[in-house]
Amino acid sequence: MSSVPAKKSATAWYDSPLYYDMVYADYTPKETRFIEGIMQRHGPKLTGPMRVLEPACGSGRLLESLSARGHVVHGFDLNKHQIAFAKHRLKEKKLQGRVWRDRLQDFSVPKGAKFDVAHCFVSTFKYIDTEAGALSSLRRMAAVLRPGGLLLIGIHLTDYKNCPPDHERSIGRKPGVRVVSDTWSEPANQKSRTEAMRTRMRITEKGKTRIEETCWDFRTYSPAEVRALLAKVPALKRVAMHDFHYDLESTRKLNLEYSDIIFVLRKS
Ligand SMILES: C[S@@+](CC[C@H](N)C(=O)[O-])C[C@H]1O[C@@H](n2cnc3c(N)ncnc32)[C@H](O)[C@@H]1O
Repeated sequence: MSSVPAKKSATAWYDSPLYYDMVYADYTPKETRFIEGIMQRHGPKLTGPMRVLEPACGSGRLLESLSARGHVVHGFDLNKHQIAFAKHRLKEKKLQGRVWRDRLQDFSVPKGAKFDVAHCFVSTFKYIDTEAGALSSLRRMAAVLRPGGLLLIGIHLTDYKNCPPDHERSIGRKPGVRVVSDTWSEPANQKSRTEAMRTRMRITEKGKTRIEETCWDFRTYSPAEVRALLAKVPALKRVAMHDFHYDLESTRKLNLEYSDIIFVLRKS
């Protein structure tokens, strides 16, 4: 076994879609069930397959699982490696889906396309680094939803008074490959509304180990900051909140009791 010094980058784990995908794979079935369940509970009545948009779709793990269940999937992402991976996996499994390159802040969808649901989980929305960008993104998501359609956004909330450094570990495995992913977050800076993040992937493949590090800043959101942002998009009404356990029976309040929150927003 050999180990090389970490290669640091702002995108490393997205430039290696397979390893990113392995680390998140365990979440995919429960997120898929959650999207379907929340639509039955709060979404519009469907007369055909569910039309799903995934802004920042990454490796396409949810595009694949939802398409395999008969839904019509569209997704975009900024990272070309993730897009290529997502397209390839759909093609390989003979599944339908449209994937293109775009930004959360100023994306557009194919002409005339309307969606029953859009979802953006695992704090991805926090990559948008300005209030204007976040607002533009929410307005665009609202605009492409049909009336009564749902927007599901999952973000980690910040308690500025109590945000010690944090660490999470996930492990992904497939034959011949093992990935140990450690993510650290630094205490949030309330003034700049940023938290420094670092993910270190230890990849063991064909008897060799290498390390890739990704460093980036997330934009932070306290409950009050989320309320203020949502108040500027009246077309989206908050109808429920859950947590990252994706349990339909467990709802949450918008406070600091629990930090990993999924907002269920309905387009009026
Ligand atoms: C944590 S991953 C989530 C991917 C996918 N939604 C999932 O749940 O597996 C975040 C993704 O956001 C993409 N991303 C980051 N900033 C973006 C932006 N401004 N516009 C579009 N995509 C962005 C990254 O390339 C990455 O694929």
